[in-house]
Amino acid sequence: MIIAPSLLAADFGHFARETLRADRGGGDWLHLDIMDGHFVPNISFGPEVVHAIRPLTRMTFDVHLMCSRREILLEPFAEAGADRITVHVELGEKVGPLIWKIKSLGKKVGLAVNPPTAITTAEPFLKQIDLLLVMTVNPGFGGQPFISETLPKIQQADAWRREKQLAYRLEVDGGINLKTAAECAHAGADTFVSGTTLFGQGRLKTAVKKMRAAVNAAAPRRKPA
Ligand code: DX5
Ligand code: ZN
Repeated sequence: MIIAPSLLAADFGHFARETLRADRGGGDWLHLDIMDGHFVPNISFGPEVVHAIRPLTRMTFDVHLMCSRREILLEPFAEAGADRITVHVELGEKVGPLIWKIKSLGKKVGLAVNPPTAITTAEPFLKQIDLLLVMTVNPGFGGQPFISETLPKIQQADAWRREKQLAYRLEVDGGINLKTAAECAHAGADTFVSGTTLFGQGRLKTAVKKMRAAVNAAAPRRKPA
């Protein structure tokens, strides 16, 4: 189980301090939401910020690109220190070339699916990706309520993984608190992005620990294959 605090919910006046907080608090990955004000109605931060915090931690940098022209952003984020880059299936015909570009940069590939988008749109790419991100809110802002209608999509993505004997991680992002993290874990998710619930707490370490315990307890018990 991977717990990934999302820097979007951190104090933007202190990126360095907040990165260290996530690291010392036991976060496995640092989730970095990149918003361009076009693909989503909000602007966050760019490669310069990622570059600045890269030397502070060995945490995996999980870059979630919510940008219309992400083909121009892949190299800058790869150079800035991203370990993993996720693009959205809603980009349509651009998705195939983007996946191969991310691979050619030596980074792990993620594919994200928004709540209104059918999970079947991701099916043709499953063999090529390292991670499938089922968005559990409409992207753009932190602090939104979890959309429970996304749970069957998580179940479907997990079922495909077993049926097709694939090993992509199954990530959820948006409105993830202790209760919804457990619901997603029960549905098959193994990677949990959480902003408000983790950074919003005085003690991020306690929040991470509680979330880890909640998802481990809720995960389906399966016999080894
Ligand atoms: C939403 C972002 C999320 C966001 C989650 O567009 O993709 O990563 O940081 O924030 P919370 O956990 O506050 O819903
Ligand atoms: Zn995100």
